[in-house]
Amino acid sequence: MAMIIDGKAVSAQIREEIKEDVIAFTKKHGAAPSLTVIIVGEDPASQVYVRNKHKACEQVGIKSDIIRLPAETGEDELLSLIDRLNGDKTVNGILVQLPLPKHINEESVICKISPEKDVDAFGYENVGRIYTGHFDFLPCTPAGVMELLHRSGISVSGKECVVIGRSNIVGKPMAALLMHENGTVTVCHTKTKDLSLHTRRADILVSSVGKANFITADMVKEGAVIIDVGINHLHDGKLTGDVDYEGCFEKAAAITPVPGGVGPMTITMLLKNTLTAANKQI
Ligand code: GUN
Repeated sequence: MAMIIDGKAVSAQIREEIKEDVIAFTKKHGAAPSLTVIIVGEDPASQVYVRNKHKACEQVGIKSDIIRLPAETGEDELLSLIDRLNGDKTVNGILVQLPLPKHINEESVICKISPEKDVDAFGYENVGRIYTGHFDFLPCTPAGVMELLHRSGISVSGKECVVIGRSNIVGKPMAALLMHENGTVTVCHTKTKDLSLHTRRADILVSSVGKANFITADMVKEGAVIIDVGINHLHDGKLTGDVDYEGCFEKAAAITPVPGGVGPMTITMLLKNTLTAANKQI
């Protein structure tokens, strides 16, 4: 039977720690750390994410501004706005919510954000820093996974780690962070032949696929740690991960539920990055 890795509880604990640090920062510097989030268009999921980020900032005392732009905003206009925010000393962190409308090049926009304000750590400089191990910020979801492992007393060193998914946001940085902690890392993706061959070897399995019930009990090793990064909306409105939770529960040593596993950690890591950014900019 698996230990349930309670992301909600771990997240609440870290947010309390961040809150203390934010209070101290604000007292010392006369202004709270600040995050500006830009959202372009009306994507409903993005609206929810942005609202949740705003609420989380308020909860820990970080100043949060949301700039809402219409879907037809031009790329040049967005780049000029980022340029202005880069130069604004009262703004410590800048986040552009993705996805952007199709006529805007996401890469150009992300890379326009000053590396020291790039709290998503998506820009080229921060990506390079992650791979070389010289980082200030880590991308929020992989950082949240590492924090869950640390705070659950799970060591990565020498373990077989299998990451499913090779996105820039989760899979690739996840693999880098596991390597930094001496894991033996395999990254699987849509073109991987015989996925089960890999997943059954995993001591630590991280799934970021986006398909409900994709990971079944026969694909996991007895005693594995299963980290479910998937967020899938079922027809009945319920949220579920990539993993057949009930099926894998008996076999795993530890498992993250969805909801209440990795999800709450992502925003918590954004709060942490914003505080780090503010401290670096003093
Ligand atoms: N859209 C979905 N996840 C994310 C994220 O972590 N950061 C940003 N900026 N956009 C997202």
